[in-house]
Amino acid sequence: MGYDVIIGSRSADRAKEKVDELLEKWPDRTLAIEAGDNAAAAGADVVVIATPWDGATQTAASVREQLGHKVVISMANALTRIGKEFQPLVPPRGSVAASIQAVVPDCKVAGAFHHVPAKELGDLDHPIETDVLICSDHEEATALTTELIQAIPNMRPLDAGELSQSTPIESFTAVLLQLNVRYKTRVAVKFNGLPDSLTGLPKKPPRAAVAAGSDADEDANAT
Ligand SMILES: NC(=O)c1ccc[n+]([C@@H]2O[C@H](COP(=O)([O-])OP(=O)(O)OC[C@H]3O[C@@H](n4cnc5c(N)ncnc54)[C@H](OP(=O)(O)O)[C@@H]3O)[C@@H](O)[C@H]2O)c1
Repeated sequence: MGYDVIIGSRSADRAKEKVDELLEKWPDRTLAIEAGDNAAAAGADVVVIATPWDGATQTAASVREQLGHKVVISMANALTRIGKEFQPLVPPRGSVAASIQAVVPDCKVAGAFHHVPAKELGDLDHPIETDVLICSDHEEATALTTELIQAIPNMRPLDAGELSQSTPIESFTAVLLQLNVRYKTRVAVKFNGLPDSLTGLPKKPPRAAVAAGSDADEDANAT
């Protein structure tokens, strides 16, 4: 993708094991990845939080200083499995992403990658074709996350709006996992009806105007 990556962990040794595993798996690629603890990973320009949902806010809070005013991408989903059924949970503030934004208010949280299956995402030889929904209250976070997704072959970033959308985005993951179980597969999300030429962010009012309800957008009533 052309980015340098620091893989973080609560244990730098575990992160090193993961980095070694990846370098061994892809010997012909020049992967710019290194290992560190979570504080080292949070020192990167953009930080991705990919822990189980119940450890995400604690993890973010533990590296609050390193996060500063950076863009933080949350891909965690609050889910539980009861028997064969996946059920969405409602964390404080309605979503993991909003909880992280609340505990580290200075950073700029974007929710993204919630629906991308990890195994396929990690298969560098077979890029998965999928849309990736992004939501954030910060235009800078949406723009930067869009840029990262555009660098991944076959992925299409879509601006899904404000961080409040992370509630349905995260909980919808339960539906996708249920489909995986029923159809013994791993589904990916792709939306119809969008322009083929879609490459960047749609033109829309600033986030603050939307949040304040000053834009009576007629399109919003389309459904
Ligand atoms: N797997 C997928 O296909 C997929 C796809 C999209 C989104 N997601 C979301 O991404 C998140 C991670 O998924 P995963 O499958 O990678 O989960 P995972 O393997 O269970 O957890 C990822 C890492 O999080 C750290 N961790 C575990 N419990 C923690 C805690 N209580 N506090 C802080 N760190 C903890 C562990 O690293 P250390 O022990 O080394 O610190 C672990 O290796 C989830 O919220 C999931 O919903 C997953």
